[in-house]
Amino acid sequence: MKLTVHKKDAKLRQTDVCVIFVSQEWVSSGNPALPRNLSGLLDGADLSYFKGKQSETYLYAPKSSAKAILCGIGEEKKATAESLRNAASAVVGLCRDRGVTEICAAPPSGQSPAGDLSLKAIAEGLSLANYSFDRYRNVPADEAKPLLKAAHFITDVKNAAAILREAEIISANILACRDLVNETSEQSNPVSIAAQARKLASIKGVTCTVLGKKEIEKKKMGLLLAVNRGSKIEPRLVVLAYKGDHGSKKYCALVGKGITFDSGGVNLKPSGHIETMRMDMAGAAAVMYALKTAAELKLRKNLYAVMPLTENMISNEAYRPGDIFTAYNGKTVEVGNTDAEGRLILADALSYTVRELKPAYVVDLATLTGACIVAFGEITAAFLSNDDGLRGMLKSASETSGEKLWELPLFPEYDENMKSDIADISNMSAERNAGTIMGAVFLKNFIDDAKWAHIDIAGTAWYSKQRGYRPKNATGYGVRLLTDFVRKLDI
Ligand code: BES
Ligand code: MN
Ligand code: ZN
Repeated sequence: MKLTVHKKDAKLRQTDVCVIFVSQEWVSSGNPALPRNLSGLLDGADLSYFKGKQSETYLYAPKSSAKAILCGIGEEKKATAESLRNAASAVVGLCRDRGVTEICAAPPSGQSPAGDLSLKAIAEGLSLANYSFDRYRNVPADEAKPLLKAAHFITDVKNAAAILREAEIISANILACRDLVNETSEQSNPVSIAAQARKLASIKGVTCTVLGKKEIEKKKMGLLLAVNRGSKIEPRLVVLAYKGDHGSKKYCALVGKGITFDSGGVNLKPSGHIETMRMDMAGAAAVMYALKTAAELKLRKNLYAVMPLTENMISNEAYRPGDIFTAYNGKTVEVGNTDAEGRLILADALSYTVRELKPAYVVDLATLTGACIVAFGEITAAFLSNDDGLRGMLKSASETSGEKLWELPLFPEYDENMKSDIADISNMSAERNAGTIMGAVFLKNFIDDAKWAHIDIAGTAWYSKQRGYRPKNATGYGVRLLTDFVRKLDI
């Protein structure tokens, strides 16, 4: 969707639809003045039922003059960037139902949040809610709900055009990330994703290296190869680099789990759990689009995005429970369960990253455990870290982006559960409990002494229903979190 600044003195036309975001206070104080060029817009409207509650909408569509949509933001002092994004999504729902494809929008005019933050949040909320994955649907054109094409913002914010341009870049990347995660495993596989990553090298400052099966063998990434054995599609290890700060040699590495379909392997997933497993590459998609966003925003940071990519399939060649494989860093791993495959491919990718790329920080994103959904539902991701500085930057990015994180501990007492009788370590905990922590405890064996954070996005990457501006199915979680994190990096 195009986001532009509305021309100051442009007269409203009869066909215009103007969205005005207002607080409860605005309503209860008898609807004081509207921005200058909107005066008269609500003349004749019956506002007696409209309270201005969070995400409440009201459409006033007089025949002979411009139309108005009021959208409530609740109590002004309680409004946050996140509540505004969600309010904006209610507007998109109404517009799509009514076939409105172009709007003028007046963000809230109160003090809190500040004008530039409100503008950014409304712009993001509108663009991120304006999404549907319908490439496989054959519906007659008149039945399909159209998407918004443009929003013109009525605003006094000084750098409005720049804020909107940024929101456009960020949102476009999140929608593309959702498309990649929603796409079928048939189309979105290790080979095609690596090819897509390669295309990003046309962006200034971005380079891409793809390791094919032969190179992965040469590097002795025994765990990635083990997981790949049951699949007829070859694995890939993609390393994207973005150099945005030529004065620094320091890099931050983002590593994303890229299982393009997780059948569970020989420990086959049952019905009810297997159907959505094309989403098991959401971590890889998030790090790829976070790097692309950083590059397009020309952030002055150096960044890697590392994506181990394979299917986890079942076949006569598949790896088996009880097998032992040697990781890139030389540790031997007993396979307790072929469905704990994410930690295996991440182990090789992480030790490759810390040893060959030597980043100042490494953050991995993975749809790693069902236990994360048991603990947190779809509302927050779990995160675990061994570094205070990294913890602080991630929490701060979580607050500005609205992509929630909640920390779990890495107490050394947990370590003993991942021991194996016959190998250095097992991929499966001896205990059933604390599944999300155990995943991180396993990964900790592959990071040497790097400053590291693990983010489990099993619940947040894929929604069983729409919530505000996040749609059902792929949410694009992580792209905004990581982009804000990269902005805040102290390297
Ligand atoms: N990809 C799954 C985790 C998952 C489950 C993501 C549901 C999204 C929704 C992961 O590979 C997995 O299967 N984990 C196992 C680990 C167990 C065998 C230790 C799990 O959570 O059951
Ligand atoms: Mn699995
Ligand atoms: Zn998985």
